[in-house]
Amino acid sequence: MKITVFSSQAHDRQFLASANADSHQLVFRSERLVPGTATLAAGSDAVCVFVNDDLGRETLGTLKEAGVKYIALRCAGFNNLDLAAARELDLPVARVPRYSPHAVAEHAIGLMLALDRKYHRAWNRVREGNFSLQGLLGFDLHGKTVGLVGTGNIGSVAARILLGFGCRVLAVDPVRSDALEEAGVKYVPLQDLYARSDIISLHCPLTPATHHLVNAKAIAAMKRGVMLINTSRGAVIDSRALIDGLKSGQLGYLGLDVYEEESELFFEDHSADAIQDDLFMRLTTFPQVLITGHQGFYTREAMTAIASTTLSNLEDLAAGRECENLVG
Ligand code: NAI
Repeated sequence: MKITVFSSQAHDRQFLASANADSHQLVFRSERLVPGTATLAAGSDAVCVFVNDDLGRETLGTLKEAGVKYIALRCAGFNNLDLAAARELDLPVARVPRYSPHAVAEHAIGLMLALDRKYHRAWNRVREGNFSLQGLLGFDLHGKTVGLVGTGNIGSVAARILLGFGCRVLAVDPVRSDALEEAGVKYVPLQDLYARSDIISLHCPLTPATHHLVNAKAIAAMKRGVMLINTSRGAVIDSRALIDGLKSGQLGYLGLDVYEEESELFFEDHSADAIQDDLFMRLTTFPQVLITGHQGFYTREAMTAIASTTLSNLEDLAAGRECENLVG
């Protein structure tokens, strides 16, 4: 099978080539898949795409005309896909739903700990020979209430880690997990979760129902000084509401691994560029904000699993076998 891999970075080449072992012809492109680059896949049986590639109707139409038969997302989320258009065009799309929920959950907990104990600030200070503790006062996670929005693969791992810290864990999810309830997680209405949580961590997918779920009204309904963590998808938060929340102190801490307009920024080196996104740059000026560039998934274990599942998904589709990771 000839597979064009869009948005590929050195690590994608490394892990996909290693999982492939010369079985398929992999064509690595650094370009993002958008309507204008879809023709680069001409002559390929399949394309392999990532979180910021565009799988809208126009792109899908061009891929179909270019002879592409299958699409493999090398990620879990599929908010960038027009599923109805893919169905109409008879383009099956597969994803990697469970590569390592630990990778993302542990990253979310890492953001919580770093913001709480101010590791990012302490690291800078010690390098400058400044051993003052002024401004580094943290709080015990033990005994705090953490609200999880979404208790699927990632949220449920986060819940168990937090229970291990001795936190009270509240959750919102249309699908409740009996196992988590038995472990001590309490499902509550969203407004209760907002009102009672010291820390709120988002682990739901981006859908029309969760788009801008966290907006100015939601932030106002949270506890003053709340810590908000987002490792799900940027547009679950209305980014413009964050600045006011941080300036007023309503938001005490903010940890982001994803950002609404990240496709213009993340996964590339912009260190020599004048970054045009003023909202993003303003966010980086707050001492109580920690942003990582969508690296939650980025562990050896996750990358290995993503590469092998991506290829086996395409092999299933090409062989006409049932593909358990088919989207929709
Ligand atoms: P999942 O599908 O296993 O779990 C998502 C959960 O959210 C489900 O239980 C679902 O019922 C729930 N949900 C749906 N709508 C909801 C709503 N309105 N309110 C509350 N809960 C709702 O997905 P998984 O694997 O846990 O991933 C969650 C999200 O994390 C993905 O959709 C993706 O956007 C993001 N992600 C981020 C990564 C990163 O590197 N930062 C890597 C992988 C995923």
